[in-house]
Amino acid sequence: MRLMVTGGAGFIGSAVARRAIADGHDVLNVDKLTYAANLDNVAEIASNERYHFAQQDICDQKAMTALIDGFKPDAIMHLAAESHVDRSIDGPRDFIDTNIVGTYALLEAARGYVRSGAAPKGFRFHHISTDEVYGSLGAEGAFTEDSPYRPNSPYSASKASSDMLARAWSETFDLPVVISNCSNNYGPYQFPEKLIPVVVINALEGRPIPVYGKGENVRDWLYVGDHAEALLLVAQQGAPGETYNIGGRAERSNLDLVRMICALLDKALLESESRPHDSLIAFVDDRPGHDFRYAINCDKIERALGWTPTMTIEEGMARTVRWYLDNRSWWEAIRRRGFDTARRQGQAR
Ligand SMILES: NC(=O)c1ccc[n+]([C@@H]2O[C@H](COP(=O)([O-])OP(=O)(O)OC[C@H]3O[C@@H](n4cnc5c(N)ncnc54)[C@H](O)[C@@H]3O)[C@@H](O)[C@H]2O)c1
Repeated sequence: MRLMVTGGAGFIGSAVARRAIADGHDVLNVDKLTYAANLDNVAEIASNERYHFAQQDICDQKAMTALIDGFKPDAIMHLAAESHVDRSIDGPRDFIDTNIVGTYALLEAARGYVRSGAAPKGFRFHHISTDEVYGSLGAEGAFTEDSPYRPNSPYSASKASSDMLARAWSETFDLPVVISNCSNNYGPYQFPEKLIPVVVINALEGRPIPVYGKGENVRDWLYVGDHAEALLLVAQQGAPGETYNIGGRAERSNLDLVRMICALLDKALLESESRPHDSLIAFVDDRPGHDFRYAINCDKIERALGWTPTMTIEEGMARTVRWYLDNRSWWEAIRRRGFDTARRQGQAR
């Protein structure tokens, strides 16, 4: 397939691009290269003749139209977004621009492509979103595709808005849209301001490991490689007009997750002066509007497309921690470039 992937220099988008190239697809990666992007994430596919890159802002509808007309994708996989909840609290504007206006521009460009007759049969616009649009759960239950939208942060509100636009373009303009909503991703190449890299890097450097509130918030954790596989399946086989929830079936409280990482580091770093690393845990003021629990019911994608997560959290987290230990130069280069870690020292999305 010819896949146009927006946000392909970010964490999940680059996993999709690497996997798509490995699977034999052609990829056009469209990315503005914001602070969250890193071309090192796609270095291993950069010289592949089936891989193409365009530095563009998705808000630029003319540029999106030109890229689509030139590349003639079989599917657009739309991942480009401002993605960090804490940043959306400090400054929501970029989230409105990219997540809402940018999605609108891309939907319009895709609509023009279909209307012109140039789009191939089976073309799909795959909009990638989050479980955070559903709001917060109590101790029981899990989000299904029919759960009501109740976003609580500027980030999740902007993603919810973009989901609504995608849905409306499907209903009103017959654009073949598929939407997927996933839980917290983890794995290699995640930007160092997010929870898991923060824990590993702070522990390595003997600095406090910040945990919001009492660390009781619960998230479902999805290995990024499993997610990339699910996304490629949805882009190829998802039924237009449908939504698919994608989860890892691995719920953990933030505190349990941080302790799991600390235990892995204790084993890996026998000489570390910071052992046991969980002694570095420092509880910090809770994030405003912090959702208590997210959980995903992913029966539908399993039933309809035969996908199920294959990575256990124990194995996935061990691989992830090992990757950050082995790829110090990757995250050190990002830190040298400088990014604002001071804000709240990056906690789970
Ligand atoms: N990371 C998660 O756990 C998670 C969970 C659920 C959903 N999602 C969704 O998955 C998608 C990817 O998330 P991620 O964690 O890889 O994000 P990321 O922040 O790592 O990457 C986002 C990418 O989008 C690019 N981008 C931002 N604004 C752009 C613009 N205006 N034009 C073009 N490119 C732009 C950035 O340069 C970056 O490369 C997002 O839509 C996010 O909402 C992520």
